[in-house]
Amino acid sequence: MCGIVGIASENDCVKGIIAGLYSLEYRGYDSSGIATLNDNLFASKKSIGKISRLENAIIKDKISGNLGIGHTRWATHGKPTLNNCHPFIKNNCALVHNGIIENFEELVKTFALNETCIKSETDSEIIAEICDKLLNEFNNPIDVIKKISQNIQGTFSFAFLIKGSDSIYATRRGSPLVLGLSENLNSISSDVLGLPDETREIIFLEENDIATINPSSISIYNIKGNSINRKKHEFVAKKDFKTKGKFMHFMEKEIFHQPICLEDIILNFADKKTNSVFLPKNTIDFNNISNIILVACGTAYHACMIAKYWLEQMTDKHVSIDIASEYRYKKNNIDKNSIAIVVSQSGETMDTLECLKKFRQNDLFTISIVNVLNSSIARMSDYVLPTLAGPEIGVAATKSFTAQLAVLALLGLHIQQQKNNIEKNVFNSLFSIHESIKKILKDSKRFEEIAHSLRDAKSIFYIGRGIMYPIALEGALKLKEITYKHCEGYAAGELKHGPLALIEDQIPVIALAPSDHNFSKILSNIQEVRARGGKSIIITDKAGSIKAKKYCDQIIVLPDTNYLTSAIIYSLPIQLIAYHLAVLLGTDVDQPRNLAKSVTVE
Ligand code: AGP
Repeated sequence: MCGIVGIASENDCVKGIIAGLYSLEYRGYDSSGIATLNDNLFASKKSIGKISRLENAIIKDKISGNLGIGHTRWATHGKPTLNNCHPFIKNNCALVHNGIIENFEELVKTFALNETCIKSETDSEIIAEICDKLLNEFNNPIDVIKKISQNIQGTFSFAFLIKGSDSIYATRRGSPLVLGLSENLNSISSDVLGLPDETREIIFLEENDIATINPSSISIYNIKGNSINRKKHEFVAKKDFKTKGKFMHFMEKEIFHQPICLEDIILNFADKKTNSVFLPKNTIDFNNISNIILVACGTAYHACMIAKYWLEQMTDKHVSIDIASEYRYKKNNIDKNSIAIVVSQSGETMDTLECLKKFRQNDLFTISIVNVLNSSIARMSDYVLPTLAGPEIGVAATKSFTAQLAVLALLGLHIQQQKNNIEKNVFNSLFSIHESIKKILKDSKRFEEIAHSLRDAKSIFYIGRGIMYPIALEGALKLKEITYKHCEGYAAGELKHGPLALIEDQIPVIALAPSDHNFSKILSNIQEVRARGGKSIIITDKAGSIKAKKYCDQIIVLPDTNYLTSAIIYSLPIQLIAYHLAVLLGTDVDQPRNLAKSVTVE
């Protein structure tokens, strides 16, 4: 998704902007650009494809300046072409934009723009045109930005350079912007990761705030143009998350980070000595609530699917789940005795955010389970449960997924605790999850072998029953996302209702089969596959492997699990298989084509 970096420095800002754009690569993009203001002249470079191409273009033909703005573009209006690349420069104004201007065509009329000046297919160029026009009418850039903001329908974050001024100007609505403060430079970005390393403190801009950023100071104004103060937060060093270290890809690093993350989450929220779960600052009495509504997108939605199995098994609550992009546009009969939970790694996913707004309009108490604290979703919800996974750079969600599961499991145990019926054995099992995962990771070569056997498959099936069904869906999503191979996730019992017709020896079926109450059923499903010439790979535990051996071509034996730990532990094989197959096929593991890390548009 699009990213913004702006730097106002006592020294040249170009290197810092390029570094910031590299840090935003993980969000997904298809082109990039930069503009500087030097001696009251704009200089600009744009490029299609990777940031390294933009960097090379700047090395060949240097641009410099103390004030600069940069952008990574993820095409929404118009193809990824140089013409559509930001920044857009119009006489006295240069701008970069994130978000979608819904009324951009009407704005041409409202501001009586000369249409022949519009060269791109974007919704953003028009705002640069308007800005330049208004700069001739108003003395103050703040008044120009106020006027623009008042006329826009849609979502935006903008950074502007304006001739005759030594500041970057920025504003936002529905799309995040964060200011970075340090001694010799100040900066702005759409994401904390885009800020320079020397940043000491950060300020999150609120809806409609307008900021001016120059090398030695920043100021913030509200939509009326009155000066306002916003809270400063300490900037946590991000250096460690920006490097791959000994790993080939961020995704690999993030998969291997899971034992640490999970131990951290469990130890932060649960105390083994007293058998209790502590949800920070929680004042919710779940005994007074009968319904839980969960919404999310993609991988986070799969976490919600698992939570439904868990919460209905662990509590007496009625649990409903929805895909956020569906929930937001349908009629929902909401029982007032409900609590709403939204789950999101980025905390910026537009559809999830819109559901959150809908819940709030219906006066529901809202909980967000997010990885990015201070994200829009976190800030809008009544109560935030952080997933503590640390920044996730790879587009494919890995550690954020297992972290979401851990938090949702703890939530289930917390609800039990409020009824004094916490399942002690299950609770205790959480404390050894990280050890089980370490064992799986130690032996990660096995998954490379599986990946080799899948290399030429026409298509792949993941099947599972119960909690393993959403894991099958997540396994299929991971494979599609980073290997570009077709894969389906199926509830194993559904095979005979259609997809069995597809089974042949070029379509392997991977069964996720811990030896739980569903084991004998899934074993029958595997036999149905084999009877039709299909190849089967079974992922199970020791007890399961004894029974399953004769029914499979390959077998992976995992540590023993229970209904709460199985979802987390069986997530590892699906991540590792996808990762190794992607490496084998030579795809762009961390930034798969057409995808973005943070989906801030519909
Ligand atoms: C999965 O690997 C994804 N990249 C994607 O499905 C993601 O989970 C989804 O876009 C939701 O994102 P969020 O958790 O940041 O809201």
